[in-house]
Amino acid sequence: MSDLLDRLSEIVPDYPSKGISFKDLTPVFADPIGLRRVIDAVIAPFAGQFDVIAGIEARGFVMAAAAAYATGTGMIAVRKAGKLPRAVHSDEYTLEYGTGILELHRDDIVPGARVLILDDVLATGGTAGSAARLLAMAGARIAGVGVVLELEALGGRDKLAGLNVHSLQRV
Ligand code: PRP
Ligand code: MG
Repeated sequence: MSDLLDRLSEIVPDYPSKGISFKDLTPVFADPIGLRRVIDAVIAPFAGQFDVIAGIEARGFVMAAAAAYATGTGMIAVRKAGKLPRAVHSDEYTLEYGTGILELHRDDIVPGARVLILDDVLATGGTAGSAARLLAMAGARIAGVGVVLELEALGGRDKLAGLNVHSLQRV
């Protein structure tokens, strides 16, 4: 899997700021074999352990929708503030600079449903941790968190203590 990710992703120097090397996964998703293999691999550790898949706006949507379709489950949208039209749970989380707010429709979860959270990258863990809190507020049981890329130095896994976290590549 690392071979495929290294071959298809693009390293962008000095993005989003000077000194940062950004690993762009969009070519992986654009490739028909890349998309299928990544989605299959990201859900494999959780086989039989989830009822529905939550994707985190925006890049997590790509993965969650594909994975839900592939597994015959549904997809739940965890969105950035102000995008969902009905009553929501809200959660503020820490970003590298400042804070963000994620939201989830209050009635999106059947209480007790086992929810798999998918996103492209786990960095500080702020985003995935927020999604997990929101889903728990709505009555979900968190089956786990699956990501393509884990930026180990940022310690996101520590913020997700107690959750089953799987990444396809650690850098
Ligand atoms: C990126 C990435 C993850 C998050 C990881 O999303 O897609 O969702 O950051 O960072 P963290 O672990 O430090 O929270 P971003 O907020 O840049 O937005 P996007 O998905 O809408 O592009
Ligand atoms: Mg994101």
